[in-house]
Formats: sequence, structure tokens, C-alpha cells
Amino acid sequence: MTERFRRILLARAAQPYRASGFFAWNFAKGKLKGDPAFFGLLEHGLIPSAKRLIDLGCGQGLLASWLLEARTLHESGNWPVQWPAAPKIENIWGLELMPKDVERARAALGTRAEFALGDICNTDFGKSDVVVILDVLHYISYEAQEDVLRRIRASLPTGGTFITRIGDAAGGLPFHYSNWVDRAVFFLRGHRLNRIYCRTLQEWLEIFRRYGFTVEPLPMHKGTPFCNIVLIAKAV
Ligand SMILES: C[S@@+](CC[C@H](N)C(=O)[O-])C[C@H]1O[C@@H](n2cnc3c(N)ncnc32)[C@H](O)[C@@H]1O
Repeated sequence: MTERFRRILLARAAQPYRASGFFAWNFAKGKLKGDPAFFGLLEHGLIPSAKRLIDLGCGQGLLASWLLEARTLHESGNWPVQWPAAPKIENIWGLELMPKDVERARAALGTRAEFALGDICNTDFGKSDVVVILDVLHYISYEAQEDVLRRIRASLPTGGTFITRIGDAAGGLPFHYSNWVDRAVFFLRGHRLNRIYCRTLQEWLEIFRRYGFTVEPLPMHKGTPFCNIVLIAKAV
């Protein structure tokens, strides 16, 4: 059942991107299938049901499509019994720097989620219950990372959830390999190759605690040669 279900969820979450063009649709299929974070978030039940989830550096909005389709399948009774319930999110808001990605996200998901063009370093996040940042923090300076953490904490209530994924700078060759791939994809998607700002897992844990979070690390690179770790943080 689970393999068949995985194929159904992948196809359904990628399907809306047909409306955004050939590149967006194929990128959606490849990323959702190849990146263990998407299934991992559901299998581990990391995202709770919420009124408002914000996805900072959302790219073409894949997480929104993924969560919306997961919930639809769950509500229709088509859901693996061993998995936690898919979260019910009333409002998903994505923030993204690249205009083309915002266009693709809007073309794919219409009114099912909201997408704004902006920089996470200077855009107001508003209030939220869940914040997700997948593979974005290393693009902004160390000072900006800390300011974003501070503003995320301010946008969450006590007990609110913040999920992010980082590369562990102490992770040796897999860490350097994931940076290399990340920079290649970043460049191919039209960004300038600027400096990146990485930290060790221990450094990340320390600054999360300093900015008012408890945090649990969960390695999430199964099936890839990378060294990626999901941090599951709760606002205290
Ligand atoms: C590796 S992609 C990840 C996209 C998405 N989070 C996902 O997992 O599919 C990084 C994204 O962060 C965006 N980004 C980088 N710096 C940003 C910033 N300062 N503000 C908003 N978005 C940013 C990039 O344009 C890119 O879409």
C-alpha cells in the first residue's frame, strides 16, 4: 500500500505545476521524489495542524502543494495507517525572493495558498503557528540568520513550531558535496553565486536556544549523499 500511496501523493502534488510550465512540473516531480524531507515531514508527523503556516524561501511553493494534497488524501481515507494524520493547515503563506518562482507557485496553486515576493531579511512575517525554512538560511549572513530567528520567535506563540533544515558544517565530505550541488542548482536557477554562511550543528543548536527555542535534530538525508539535518524547534 505505502509504495502505491507514495506514487499517488507524488503525482498529485506535482500535477498543479503543469499549469506553471514544463520546467516547473518536471522540477516538482524530481524534487518531491528525490528530496527525503517531503515524505519525512509527513512520516515523522513533524508539522502540526495549524491556522497559519509560513514557508520562508518557499521556491515554487512545493511544500504548500505537498501539504494540501496530503491533507486531501488523508481526508478521503487514502492514507497509510502507520503514518500520523496529515496536518490540516487553514492558511499557507510562502515568501520567496525570485519573481519567477512566485509566478510558478501562484500559477500552480491559485487561491489554495498565498505567495509573496520578498526577502526574508526585511519582510514582516506576521503571526503564525508553524514556520518552515527548507535550505535557505545559509544564503543569508550570520547576523541576518540571527535576526530571522529572533523574528520567527516573535511571530510564534509559546509552543509554536519552527522547522528548518541545515547542513552540518562539521559533516565532512557529505557536507561539502551537498554545498556543491546546492550552489550548482542555485546558479542554474538564476541566482548569483555569493558566499554561503554555514554553521556546525552544535552552533545551530546553541543559537536556537539563545533565541527562545527548544530544539531536536533529526538527520534527514536518507537515500542521498548529503549531510542534512532537520531541526524541530518549539518556541518556549
Ligand atoms: C534551495 S531553494 C529551497 C526552496 C524551497 N524551500 C524548497 O525546499 O523547495 C532556496 C530558496 O530560497 C530562496 N531565497 C534565498 N535567499 C532568500 C531570501 N533572502 N529571501 C527569500 N527567499 C530567499 C531562493 O530564491 C530559493 O528559492
